[in-house]
Amino acid sequence: MEFENLSTISTSQSVFRVAHISDTHISPEYHRTNIFRLKRLLELAVDDGYDHIAITGDITANAEESGYRSVRRLLKHFGLLDRDRLSVTIGNHDIFGGVHRAEDLLTFGKTCRATDYRKKIRLFESAFSEVLPRKAYEGENVFPYVKIIGPLAVVALNSIREFHPFLNPVGSNGLVPDAQMEEAERILNHPSLSSLKKVVLVHHHFNKYEPHSDSIGASLYHKFEARTLKLHRSRRVEEMLKRCGVDVVLHGHTHIEGIYSRSGIIYSSTALTPIRAKNDEALEEDDRHLRFNEIAVQESGSITATKRKYAVGQKGSSSHAVDRKLQVE
Ligand SMILES: [Fe+2]
Ligand SMILES: [Fe+2]
Repeated sequence: MEFENLSTISTSQSVFRVAHISDTHISPEYHRTNIFRLKRLLELAVDDGYDHIAITGDITANAEESGYRSVRRLLKHFGLLDRDRLSVTIGNHDIFGGVHRAEDLLTFGKTCRATDYRKKIRLFESAFSEVLPRKAYEGENVFPYVKIIGPLAVVALNSIREFHPFLNPVGSNGLVPDAQMEEAERILNHPSLSSLKKVVLVHHHFNKYEPHSDSIGASLYHKFEARTLKLHRSRRVEEMLKRCGVDVVLHGHTHIEGIYSRSGIIYSSTALTPIRAKNDEALEEDDRHLRFNEIAVQESGSITATKRKYAVGQKGSSSHAVDRKLQVE
């Protein structure tokens, strides 16, 4: 197997830092504050000299061209429509969209059923054509892909399961199909990646989904969500990642921020507007902070994952690490 069109950027710094952002849910119609939050977050990451930015899906709220146009405008403004600066993977909202008004709740299953999955993948691919690796031939699915960025091999998976009336009735469950698993394993085991740190981008999560909720309504909603926010056969994916010596997995989907490790792999989870996890007193549900995770690869090869937060609106303010830091040598 040959990896074509790979580019490497050199950095004079001894630490290579990735800003992990997720679930930006951009739409000109819904969640309008997200666009301002993302703009500020990208500005902070760029000003702070991050070497690379990774966004792990649900980039748009509704899988529409207008949402991608808004995202592209921002990325272009910050010079991020560039393979070396940015990597992305796809989320369920980038294919099926989501429920944004109560009246859409009952018809959403129908909307998912009628969604043309492949057409939405193509839309995502064309929206990020400057960021995704070039395809070897037309019609080929871009996932899984690999890019070599500084000391990293960045491998992205598409974990969005196709619609199924029982197994994926509202589009939010995940599955990495066999063909993609095999291809990902071939890529990750390729000898040319052996000296690099392997970072996998995937939308779905591997930890337990345990949001905090104060009200009965919210609690019921989260119970419903927990049943429709699953990566089916996730153990099989985890085992493959472990077999292949993956160092870091970046994901989103739950909107719960966190850093955790399993079997020697660091997992980073974040969202543009995170919700509070059970037993997480540290996160106040407010809009005053912008949060993302930082993955830093030291010259020595050790990797540090840190939750970062910035106060919104304070231009020039410095970030500080919050409540969780994980290091693997
Ligand atoms: Fe999301
Ligand atoms: Fe999602």
